[in-house]
Amino acid sequence: MRKTAICDLLGIEYPVIQGGMAWVAEHNLAAAVSNAGGLGIIAAANAPYEYVRDEIRKTKELTDRPFGVNIMLLSPHAEDVARVVVEEKVPVVTTGAGNPGTYMKQWKEAGIKVIPVVASVALAKLMQRAGADAVVAEGCESGGHIGESTTMTLVPQVADAVSIPVIAAGGIADGRGFAAARMLGAQAVQVGTRFVVSKECVVHPRYKQQILRAKDIDSVVTGRSGGHPVRALRNKMSREYLRREQAGCEFEELESLTVGALRKAVVDGDVDYGTLMAGQIAGMIQEEKSCREIIEGMMDEAESLMNRAW
Ligand SMILES: Cc1cc2nc3c(=O)[nH]c(=O)nc-3n(C[C@H](O)[C@H](O)[C@H](O)COP(=O)(O)O)c2cc1C
Repeated sequence: MRKTAICDLLGIEYPVIQGGMAWVAEHNLAAAVSNAGGLGIIAAANAPYEYVRDEIRKTKELTDRPFGVNIMLLSPHAEDVARVVVEEKVPVVTTGAGNPGTYMKQWKEAGIKVIPVVASVALAKLMQRAGADAVVAEGCESGGHIGESTTMTLVPQVADAVSIPVIAAGGIADGRGFAAARMLGAQAVQVGTRFVVSKECVVHPRYKQQILRAKDIDSVVTGRSGGHPVRALRNKMSREYLRREQAGCEFEELESLTVGALRKAVVDGDVDYGTLMAGQIAGMIQEEKSCREIIEGMMDEAESLMNRAW
């Protein structure tokens, strides 16, 4: 019951994927998730390809299980990173911020499983036509860059529209969320915010503390006016951003506030002026757990709920 088509496709034990998270998802987290039976993912974000190659090699030292790399297609280094994942024989690639069509051929020829993250039915269909092995349908409850639709509405519509497996993301952090995603037609879940507060995640303790303290309504979305909405926990920086956004400031001026701000939160623990990317589910996260505890707890709870479902 715990296995789905995704497990066979990716060679993993449980249908739980750790979302690529810029600055957050490095080799320690990715390897811990893969060792716990899920699929760990290294986030390439805007990093140069040498960094990504190094992270891939460090992950391989910590696990012999499958793992993936998340490539942000808008990164100036995307083309080089696309080549490095082939050279390093990375089993799975997920992509964000755009259409990975131009890289599809080289990845498929290398035997890489390609899983684009989509926020609409139209992009899901396009990705299926381009040869994607599965898609992540990510709702706007998620932390980080988001689309318009909620997980509840997006997942069933994507599941109806494509024949490849669908992975649900956004607002999933326990067995209830997992079971709900399965009922909506997903074969697996992608989890971000919950894994930020895992023992193996290297983000600054103050960042984790802010997620543990957060209530249901403590995340906000900045950047809607410029067409690049981002969900993060409310703090001095997001308040200032929203104030300027409401005052009609130019996108460039607004973005100058956020340059390097995720790093500030993750590395320096600056909870006032760093970007504390986290999803709406942050309010439900009450304690730091190991990746194994998170995944196995999710599976146990989902199994008991689904056994009781009528
Ligand atoms: C701190 C943080 C950074 C993220 N960075 C990325 C990223 O670099 N690329 C990407 O495709 N998604 C990114 N995401 C989205 C996650 O991969 C995942 O889909 C999302 O967090 C799932 O929703 P949840 O946070 O409600 O679990 C990020 C999310 C968070 C919380």
